[in-house]
Amino acid sequence: MGEDELAISEHDCETMRLVRRGADATGDQAAALFALANGLVGVEGVIDERDAAPCAYLPDAYVSRPIGYHESFPGYATATDTRVACPGPALLRLHVDGKPIDFGAAELLDTERTLDFADGQLRRISRWRIATGRTLEIAVDRIVPLAGGACVASRIRIRPLDFAGHFQAWLTYGIDGGGAGAAEADDPRISGRLRPQWTINLPLPGDTPSVTRFSQDAVALAYRQHVASPAAQVAAVHAGHVVRSELVAGGILAIDRVVAMACARGRPVDLVALNGATDFDAIAEGQRAAVRTLWGSAAFAIDGDDALAAALHFDLFQLHQSASRDPNHSIGAKGLTGEGYEGHYFWDAETFMLPVLALQAPEQAKTLLAYRVGKLDRARAHAAALGHRRGALYPWRTIAGDECSSHYPTGSAQYHINGDIAYALALYVAATGDDAFRAEAAEMLFETARIWMEIGAFDPRRDRAFCTHGVTGPDEYSALVDNDFYTNAIARRHLAYAADTANWLRARNEFAVLAAAIDLDDKEVADWRKAADAMWLPVDPALGVNPQDDAFLGRPELPGLAASGDRHGPLLMRYHPMILFRHQVAKQGNVVQAMAMDLVGMPLSQQRRNFDYYGRVTTHDSTLSSVSFAIAAARLGDEKAALEFHRECAFVDLEDRHGNTSHGLHMAALAGSWLVLAQGWGGLRLDGAIPSFRPQLPDAWKGYRFRMQWRGSVIELAVDAAGCTYRLLSGDPLAVADHGRPFNVGAEPVFAERPGLKGVIFDLDGVLTDTAEDHYQAWQALADTHGFAFDREANHRLKGVDRSNSLRLILDHAGAQVEAGRFDAMLAEKNDIYRARLAGYSPANLFEGVAELFDGLRAAGLKIGLASASRNAGDVVRLLGISDQFDFIADAGAVAHAKPAPDIFLACAAGMGLSPEQCIGVEDAQAGISAIHAAGMVAIGIGSEEALPDADMHLPAIGQLTVARILSSEQETAPRAGFSTRPDKVEEISC
Ligand code: G6P
Ligand code: MG
Repeated sequence: MGEDELAISEHDCETMRLVRRGADATGDQAAALFALANGLVGVEGVIDERDAAPCAYLPDAYVSRPIGYHESFPGYATATDTRVACPGPALLRLHVDGKPIDFGAAELLDTERTLDFADGQLRRISRWRIATGRTLEIAVDRIVPLAGGACVASRIRIRPLDFAGHFQAWLTYGIDGGGAGAAEADDPRISGRLRPQWTINLPLPGDTPSVTRFSQDAVALAYRQHVASPAAQVAAVHAGHVVRSELVAGGILAIDRVVAMACARGRPVDLVALNGATDFDAIAEGQRAAVRTLWGSAAFAIDGDDALAAALHFDLFQLHQSASRDPNHSIGAKGLTGEGYEGHYFWDAETFMLPVLALQAPEQAKTLLAYRVGKLDRARAHAAALGHRRGALYPWRTIAGDECSSHYPTGSAQYHINGDIAYALALYVAATGDDAFRAEAAEMLFETARIWMEIGAFDPRRDRAFCTHGVTGPDEYSALVDNDFYTNAIARRHLAYAADTANWLRARNEFAVLAAAIDLDDKEVADWRKAADAMWLPVDPALGVNPQDDAFLGRPELPGLAASGDRHGPLLMRYHPMILFRHQVAKQGNVVQAMAMDLVGMPLSQQRRNFDYYGRVTTHDSTLSSVSFAIAAARLGDEKAALEFHRECAFVDLEDRHGNTSHGLHMAALAGSWLVLAQGWGGLRLDGAIPSFRPQLPDAWKGYRFRMQWRGSVIELAVDAAGCTYRLLSGDPLAVADHGRPFNVGAEPVFAERPGLKGVIFDLDGVLTDTAEDHYQAWQALADTHGFAFDREANHRLKGVDRSNSLRLILDHAGAQVEAGRFDAMLAEKNDIYRARLAGYSPANLFEGVAELFDGLRAAGLKIGLASASRNAGDVVRLLGISDQFDFIADAGAVAHAKPAPDIFLACAAGMGLSPEQCIGVEDAQAGISAIHAAGMVAIGIGSEEALPDADMHLPAIGQLTVARILSSEQETAPRAGFSTRPDKVEEISC
């Protein structure tokens, strides 16, 4: 990657830092916002000279406490892990002329803090008026090196502005108590918060004076401090150093302080862990390089919304800071920025944070998965504790690997976590091609897949659909339900990936050994496939939405929900859980979550219905909610809603939108704000063989760009009003797709114009299935019975023609006439013969390639319509199993004029909410081609040029029709929607 690729423009600089002044720069919220971390340690954005409480987080620094129950039942969680804040490595106590300065009582005249995302440093400058009325300036630059160990480096400058004196700077550690106020004691999102009690231990033999040891419970810590202050006297003291200097007014005492930290459990820390860089300038240089590497694959820009761009830079920087570098740990809900949720790891590490890491820093995505692999035995034990005969169930919340939730209805019952981990594994493997890790993780994948067969069954009353029972989805305002939509959707993905992986291992001759080790046979794998194929993912016939679970749509809505909204705080703080469980109210949208993750293919119209329906009953009390709603809205082209939800997650902490940023940053929402950019606006989908995009540009922006890595290559997408330019920044050429059009991004940038096309309208008979033959056979039988001359040749003219006009043509051809009553009886007779032939129809009768074509169209964001002259069309698509796939099915009985009149195509376009120019039609009959043209649409003919001379493009069979060909036919016939308006340097997609 060239230098210039990484250069950050003057303008970008404005969005590459968080600046806060005055009261906004201090306090609990600022402590979280200005947290620094590197996956091995996190330190809150404390004010060195004032904040004396523990404020550092080391992944291993957690304690385990028993959970007590008055009434306990088998399998209840017995203990919980709680991350504890470690001694602050930044505490600075100042004495002037032998007297300590009480910064708690001093007046903070001014403070400015800057977190710089371009060089990875936190800078602060504060002016204090101390008790004597004198003023003092303290400036501190702080670094937690992204590519370094657990270490906090500070460059401190102390400057008396209007006085002279003898200064002593005590560089010690913050272990004073303090913490949550009484008001927070009942908040389940922070409960379990411990008042850390650190003991300073005696040095061990061999410890140098610069080492301080602490302990609490099983946690042992050692800090080694290195202090440099060339113009002053430096001495090691108990638990720190003291720096002494005479200062004149305006003089500066400059101190570099580097604290390396290490943690061990149940034994003293081995000091080898504390070896690392000690020179501030070298650490700063290393940090600049590490940050450059990070933005090398993660840089993005939004032209037209600096505030949002700045927020997203903050969000992404914080995610990368908190991303675990330790395979014994994942990322807590609050990262390494605070004590919220006890530092526990939840599903959001896999579903929100890991996807971003897989696309920007895949090594760290792997670390999260390695953590899960390492805890497989604990997950097996958890499953056994819950009474499962086999398999592994990951705990809902944990650090060390055991279930730490004492509330199983919203804890262990969230079986979807198994599927989330499998989803993350599949995504990581796809993004990296890391086959070795796929093989290594297969045991985990299989053991977790087994759980679905434990909690689900083929239901004979639902045509042997695979149904799951007694689970809780991500929405914790419903619990212990049957067939949670998200759970079933992720289970389906999990089971299919597990079965695929079994085959993949077989092909590598690696299956047998693993299968023997975990007693897995071919039948069990075959059952996984069967369950995946038969997974119950219904559409409610009346509402046209996917029910969140079997009972959800039937429950009453929560009275007054719309009125109370979230102004009164989350419902979980106000209601007994059972009140929430028995009402139709959601904390976050399970169905919308499944949509955002592309777990289920569904027409845009159904996505819209789901979005509207669940939007109405969702409180968004979870910060994760806005992410999936933003992605779904952007993909639906609902810019207003998408931008609102995008801001909701992007600013969740910067604007303290949930009022609890002081507990730590909401890592999943922060990660999600980038997912909204890539998966929402960029339309990125990762469920196919190659990454596919469908970049949209909201009116409010002039353009935007973002990068991602895939299989070691980094590409950048630059989206503007006309389309998207794809550039390869490093690595090998990469295959991607834009609006369903596959191409390679290589040495030359590729420009893909945004298609004007929004919908494809299909005829049915002869296009999607072979019913054209059945219609012919039925007419032939009728003609034979009644003695009219008719044959296959004569039938050609009937194709696409409605029932009564078809009979008229037959009678004309035979030179016969019948009176009205007999005419109608003949129509009914033909229809009976035809319908009898339909009896044997099943999804197997769908023409080859149709299912894939529909998937491709949806991925390209195109709507799918049906415009058949047949009054039987509804039944036929049901028999074919595709009735759920259409955004609109036009009713032949409801239009005034049959094909070749345009009515049914116009009705279909209108039904999809599109204008005719935004649609294209696909037909196998001349009458249909004429109807499409009369409607002002481009016509694709399935058949020969001879048979369909007027069609704009011909294909012998529907199986040969691809999204790319559909879009190129639009281009051929309508130059305004083409691909050729860009400067010569940019290679254009040829389809
Ligand atoms: C389609 C077929 C015709 C058929 C017409 C009416 O257009 O191509 O062959 O006659 O539908 O079908 P129906 O099922 O209503 O008789
Ligand atoms: Mg037809």
